[in-house]
Amino acid sequence: MYALNHSIGRKKVINENAISLGMDKRIVLLGPPGSGKGTQAERMESELGYKRISTGDLLREAVRKQTSLGKKAKEYMDAGELVPNQLVVDLIKEKVEELDGGYILDGFPRTLKQAEVLEGITDIDIAINLDVDEEELVDRLTKRRTCKECNAVYHLMFNPPKAEGKCDKCGGELYQRSDDTEAVVRERLRVYKDNTLPLVEFYSGKGKLVNIPGTGSIDEIFEAIKTQL
Ligand code: AP5
Repeated sequence: MYALNHSIGRKKVINENAISLGMDKRIVLLGPPGSGKGTQAERMESELGYKRISTGDLLREAVRKQTSLGKKAKEYMDAGELVPNQLVVDLIKEKVEELDGGYILDGFPRTLKQAEVLEGITDIDIAINLDVDEEELVDRLTKRRTCKECNAVYHLMFNPPKAEGKCDKCGGELYQRSDDTEAVVRERLRVYKDNTLPLVEFYSGKGKLVNIPGTGSIDEIFEAIKTQL
């Protein structure tokens, strides 16, 4: 065990829904690849009104659109390596500064350097760490399917779509991410242990860490997260 797709416009986003629900925390979601960060962030966004910024989704969108960032990021992502810090920091900084009210950072920070940069931009209230056994992570990721249109995630066994190959939410086509092959997944887990796991201690030292077991049903984990908000 290891101890957006939401598009945000250029104007300042006042997250009224989250504020009216009292859901105004600034949250970092930590956990290894496949621990359910995206799945839970999606629920927190749709049911609790949090804004979600997913660096993985933003980078995949840049790759799809073949922007200069996307062209630089692609080879790192396909190999399961981290995209260089500066590229990701430039991408995230403006997004975070535009937000007001509660939000979730899914996939950022991923290195101590990124965490230090984040400290200079905003005050994080809580870091939620989802903890899942390695072999389960491999199984989850190699059987994951993702929507091309809205980035919703499914699992062929644990969370299958109602119609094969089609997103329940928007009808978009489901695909297998190029980094969800077993070899790349194992490399992502190695990269996670070397670079991202130290963040658990970083946020623990600041008294902001909450560990939540990432195994159990998606509903159970969501309920456990809600008790911390
Ligand atoms: P990113 O897209 O962020 O990938 P990740 O962190 O590896 O996380 P995943 O999206 O793979 O998993 P998840 O924890 O969101 O799990 P999910 O909910 O989908 O990053 C991709 C790449 O971009 C990186 O490798 C890197 O190259 C680059 N990058 C991104 N951010 C970066 C940064 N800050 N710095 C540098 N580079 C960066 O769930 C997984 C599966 O499990 C799904 O099939 C789901 O249905 C299923 N599932 C979820 N919960 C459960 C449950 N409770 N029980 C059973 N199955 C479940």
